[in-house]
Amino acid sequence: MTQKGFTMFNTLQLAPPDPILGLTAAFNEDPNPNKINLGVGVYKDADGKTPIFRSVARAEARLLKEEDTKDYLPISGGPAYAAAVQDLLFGADHEVVTGRRAATVHTPGGTGGLRLAGDFVHKLFPEAKLWVSDPTWANHPNVFAHAGLAVETYPYFDAAINGLAFDATLEALKQIPGGDVVLLHGCCHNPTGVDPTSAQWEQIADVAEACGWMPLVDFAYQGLGKGIREDCEGLMALCRPGRELFVASSFSKNFGLYNERVGALTVVTPSEEAAKVALSQAMICIRASYSNPPAHGAAIVTTVLNDADLRADWEAEVGEMRDRINGMRMLFVDTLERKGVRRDFSFITRQRGMFSFSGLNKAQVEALREQYGIYIVGSGRINVAGMTEANMDALCEAIAEVGGWETGIQEDMV
Ligand code: LMR
Repeated sequence: MTQKGFTMFNTLQLAPPDPILGLTAAFNEDPNPNKINLGVGVYKDADGKTPIFRSVARAEARLLKEEDTKDYLPISGGPAYAAAVQDLLFGADHEVVTGRRAATVHTPGGTGGLRLAGDFVHKLFPEAKLWVSDPTWANHPNVFAHAGLAVETYPYFDAAINGLAFDATLEALKQIPGGDVVLLHGCCHNPTGVDPTSAQWEQIADVAEACGWMPLVDFAYQGLGKGIREDCEGLMALCRPGRELFVASSFSKNFGLYNERVGALTVVTPSEEAAKVALSQAMICIRASYSNPPAHGAAIVTTVLNDADLRADWEAEVGEMRDRINGMRMLFVDTLERKGVRRDFSFITRQRGMFSFSGLNKAQVEALREQYGIYIVGSGRINVAGMTEANMDALCEAIAEVGGWETGIQEDMV
């Protein structure tokens, strides 16, 4: 029945800004000439720029010469890209690859891969719950809730030790029933920067196997932690013979391809036959969502990974990025001390990846933004990759001035 005069849009309420990307929008509007954006996880070089990788620019020049069509890609993306992604994740000799028991589809960004995993699980296993760490990337609950899944949390971070609450994590993971899906951060946990050790990963893999829940590895920062291969230790622990899992890859950070939206979802299944079936089901979900993926970013990644010279250049660039971030971690801790913030921040040098879970509380985060134009995610997550030698003094002075440390030592600050 038509309702005369009904308007859909006049009934809506204004939605809140996104907790991470909304900060960038606010930052862009802030007239403060000294503003600093440490919100969104985007890498800045020593000059505060987000550069195009050398290897990427060279690959693009080659593509521009060689590209001869803009025809659609297949629903799942091209096979060369899928093979390159699997090679990067597992290594060409891993039994997951040689046994052809994984299927990889090319998705618009890592978020596209996560959402596809959510759609796949919701469509085919509607009773399954999706478990995320507490805390997790602010967008995780959103992505899976929009896919229709019930989202639950498991404990992860212990603020008292600025580290992993491993006993509590493991106990909680043991209670998760078979058939549910558990999201694990492959490396460089977002937002805490705190990862399990290799021994702890083995224990997590034991529990996954014993309980029968399905790991979903969000692998958005491969190469930014310890190294491109080294960062796969969690993934390798989970990839036991015959075990199943999902992996969502992103090339936003480790190729600097943020706006090309290039990622992948890999399903690791028990057999080649099961991989074919899973791929066919993933293709149904993709067709109903974005139909088929955008080509350019994946063409760059494939070109770089399949050319020995470009690949060596790319690996060096990822290494430079990692070194700069770790250098900034040390400088941040030293500068805080120099500016008189009398609190032990040495844990920041032990965190890995772009982010530091600083321990700054909501009031401090708000004061930094309002009084100093310093933008940090509400949880206190700081993008270390946005720090430079040029902005470090101003940042640490502001942190010293806002005070408010729970330890009560803030009165001692100079
Ligand atoms: C982040 O956590 O800042 C990045 O993953 C970017 C984003 O989309 O939120």
